[in-house]
Amino acid sequence: MAEPKKLFIKTYGCQMNVYDSARMAEAMGADGYVLTEDQAQADMVLLNTCHIREKAAEKLYSDLGRLKPVKAEKPDLKIAVAGCVAQAEGEEIVNRMPLVDLVVGPQSYHKLPAMARGEGPRVLTEFPEEDKFDHLPKARATRRAPTAFLTVQEGCDKFCAFCVVPYTRGAEVSRPVDRILAEARDLVGRGVREITLLGQNVNGWHGAGPDGREWQFGRLIRAIAEIDGLDRIRYTTSHPNDMTDDLIAAHGDEPKLMPYLHLPVQSGSDRVLKAMNRKHTADAYLRLIDRIRAARPDIMLTSDFIAGFPGETDQDHRDTLRLIEAVGYGSAFSFKYSARPGTPAAGREEVPSEVADARLQELQALLSRQQKAAQQSMVGRRLGVLFEKKGREAGQMVGKSDYLHSVFVAAPEAKIGELVEVEITHSAPNSLAGRLV
Ligand code: 5AD
Ligand code: SF4
Repeated sequence: MAEPKKLFIKTYGCQMNVYDSARMAEAMGADGYVLTEDQAQADMVLLNTCHIREKAAEKLYSDLGRLKPVKAEKPDLKIAVAGCVAQAEGEEIVNRMPLVDLVVGPQSYHKLPAMARGEGPRVLTEFPEEDKFDHLPKARATRRAPTAFLTVQEGCDKFCAFCVVPYTRGAEVSRPVDRILAEARDLVGRGVREITLLGQNVNGWHGAGPDGREWQFGRLIRAIAEIDGLDRIRYTTSHPNDMTDDLIAAHGDEPKLMPYLHLPVQSGSDRVLKAMNRKHTADAYLRLIDRIRAARPDIMLTSDFIAGFPGETDQDHRDTLRLIEAVGYGSAFSFKYSARPGTPAAGREEVPSEVADARLQELQALLSRQQKAAQQSMVGRRLGVLFEKKGREAGQMVGKSDYLHSVFVAAPEAKIGELVEVEITHSAPNSLAGRLV
């Protein structure tokens, strides 16, 4: 028997890329490829890229540069580029880096095996009519992990002025209810106890329910929550304007829906929000947070912020700091504005780089103080922890709390996939420690 061919995948960027990489691995698996963790062993290297900020996109080219001598030694090595840089730059990638054999955009992943066999085009970045998920193989039954991602929605119609996603991932498309439920049941059948529903604008999901009615995202969560054996549901990423009443209510009355919500606001200044085309004010966001907290008082909120968006003044920046103070986040990401080709904000006059840097540092300092306080507030509490892997020390397990903190627990008898009650004893910079109750 011939040795199976080996596939090495590097995934950049968001959780949807992690999910997509797994699906591409499955598709290539049907063609006889097995995954390897060792790039030196690979017959094919697949780079699943991110285009969200310039730095993220540049990583692709530096990695390709490093692959040049590898390919010179091993001319049969196939190099494929997938993801949002593939979508945005297409043909340009092979022109700039001729060592790249294949370029495939996110909506064409089901065509990757044929392309790798030489039966397709070298560059494929169309938005095809058919649903790639109908053509990708089902998840393999071998991988046993207690947590999984499940893409329910792709694309974005919001067109925030800074963002490439509406161009790289395309228009919003919701997957049908029956497919989502079948995939969720399948995951639970394989031992998954926590599912994170993914979408670029996940709470904009909608679709025809089996009852003949149009379902919104809250209804979908309730249907998934009915699956026996599933303990936890999370979702990301949401837009404030799509937080429907039913979804907010689900945070109060659906026990499997975890008390954690990533709800990016980007800025606390109405002027900047308008220039960003966010279509909500800072006050509307704060009122929304009040309603979410009324439904689920202990919910952990996280967000994304952009420092130095074109036109941002010191006053705008102070408004953002004030909004952060008013909300009190569990953690948050903040980024320096990065002009992306083709987006509406790309041509606008930029804030001086050092000013944007200083604002970013101020945001990060405040957010990390809030993160520390939020973690400290967990000490002494009893939380559910789902064990995901062994810790570094003997007899130690690591899992996620209800609030998505990593928690280290001495639990020599415990198994991966167990959901246990833990008393939190200690807060470290990016994790918690606790003991079994
Ligand atoms: N510059 C900086 N940050 C950006 N983000 C998206 N586009 C840009 C950009 N051009 C950030 C937003 C978004 C997160 C995923 O990345 O905060 O919520
Ligand atoms: Fe990008 Fe999110 Fe805005 Fe959509 S809602 S354009 S994905 S930042």
